[in-house]
Amino acid sequence: MGEGPRVSPGRNIRGEEGAASRDAASPREEGGKGGWVLGADAGCFRFNLAQLDADKYENDPELEKIRRERNYSWMDIITICREKLPNYEEKLKMFYEEHLHLDEEIRYVLEGSGYFDVRDEEDKWIRIAMEKGDMITLPAGIYHRFTLDETNYVKAMRLFVGEPVWTAYNRPADHFAAREQYVRFLAETV
Ligand SMILES: [Fe+2]
Repeated sequence: MGEGPRVSPGRNIRGEEGAASRDAASPREEGGKGGWVLGADAGCFRFNLAQLDADKYENDPELEKIRRERNYSWMDIITICREKLPNYEEKLKMFYEEHLHLDEEIRYVLEGSGYFDVRDEEDKWIRIAMEKGDMITLPAGIYHRFTLDETNYVKAMRLFVGEPVWTAYNRPADHFAAREQYVRFLAETV
């Protein structure tokens, strides 16, 4: 199987419904299950953390390989913090609205940290702690949201297959083909 994406246990966090928030005091760690839940639960995966060295992102053969294999031709870098992101409050609010996209959402954390929340097969939130070196790919049609953590800072690479489309469709958005496809995929894999 080679060096495909590997998934990593131990750092994903399953939040209670409604409990996830930028100001949440202490997200509860998912312990004792002995494995990464996202591959099966949510049709979502991320690349092995150890494989990507965020200090080398400008010239990293591992990153190049992923981009080549997955066709991530486009990229830019976004910094989310009060000083650098115009309309910071408004943007944060937007990122934290539950939504989906018609394309994959790919983020690679270069500095700082934050949380992605995704819905599992029972429609409960799974909280994913993202730190420097973590890359996540959310499939088209998955409901999700993003928030900063208590550090209030993240610098991340945004990747895209082809020309980027950032349109977010807030829930409910079940009528889109991408959503139907994702739901079908869940039914087949769970
Ligand atoms: Fe999104």
